[in-house]
Amino acid sequence: MSNKVLVLPGDGIGPEIVGEAAKVLECLRQEHGLQVELEQGLIGGAGYDAAGKPLPDETLRLAKASDAVLLGAVGGPKYDTLDRPLRPERGLLAIRSELELFGNLRPAILYPQLASASALKPEVVSGLNILIVRELTGGIYFGEPRGIRTLENGERQGYNTLVYRESEIERIGRLAFETARKRDKRLCSVDKANVLEVTELWREVMTRLSADYPDVELSHMYVDNAAMQLVRAPKQFDVIVTTNMFGDILSDCAAMLTGSIGMLPSASLDKNSRGMYEPIHGSAPDIAGQGVANPLATILSVGMMLRYSLNEPALAEKVEAAVGQVLDQGLRTPDIHTSDTRKVGTVAMGDAVVAALRS
Ligand code: IPM
Ligand code: MG
Repeated sequence: MSNKVLVLPGDGIGPEIVGEAAKVLECLRQEHGLQVELEQGLIGGAGYDAAGKPLPDETLRLAKASDAVLLGAVGGPKYDTLDRPLRPERGLLAIRSELELFGNLRPAILYPQLASASALKPEVVSGLNILIVRELTGGIYFGEPRGIRTLENGERQGYNTLVYRESEIERIGRLAFETARKRDKRLCSVDKANVLEVTELWREVMTRLSADYPDVELSHMYVDNAAMQLVRAPKQFDVIVTTNMFGDILSDCAAMLTGSIGMLPSASLDKNSRGMYEPIHGSAPDIAGQGVANPLATILSVGMMLRYSLNEPALAEKVEAAVGQVLDQGLRTPDIHTSDTRKVGTVAMGDAVVAALRS
């Protein structure tokens, strides 16, 4: 049976990087027997421009009817002055929530070829392979009430609400324990239980769950310390599980350990492993349209899609190996370029990955 993949390029560099990832899928279809049908849709600013909202109804319908979604990135300065509900980022949050993609897997892997691109000393990061499991459909990103109100004295006050139900903590916890089981069996739950009651509950639920996973070693860390430890000694971590906002922040931090945020893919999964796959970087409006964006995070997101939603682990490995090969060849987009390597643009990088897949 053919897999339906909905492709949502989005804004900024989104169309450029997704174009390269789509070439990879097309190559797998033509040459490696992948049963896949691609459809295109609009999201973010592109959705707003075409249909007046960042998640057009048609896009949501197509997404619900597909096995997986491949997304580029959303957002851009042109949309920053829109009413908040119309902004591109709201389209991304809405599709995550509508598809119930509560489990966000964000690996941070250092390719040995890129050790010198990291801002940290090679010995601190060499061999790095950590996975952040971020809760994606709850917490302060979605909690009500939220808004900006005017107080009696005329002063304005912004407010958001951080809430987690036990069941929400439990389902992300189980995903994290199960993921840790398939790795080095060490899970660090990150919270701010010394200040926030919500995360006191988070810690309690994680501790309770650990009884069901005696083979996994559970530890807890406050988020401020976790940020410091990620930069000080990142290899102490295997899997990190944390809330929506802490995961947002820590995953950017972890990304930089690997040299460039342009290298890191992500998977957002529902309870049946239907998923949306996207690079963890944003739409990079400053370099959009110049053909210099790094498509590898998006191509590696296709790898995660093959593994988690399309049940094609062997093809996932092929994609990952092809990325390794182009790095071995010394090809680098500007974000990972160093003096001893060859600078290439988005399309040349995508072509090289496709060529490696063919060889
Ligand atoms: C991410 C992004 C998004 C988030 C933005 C674009 C809404 O930063 O996927 O990490 O905060 O989740
Ligand atoms: Mg982010």
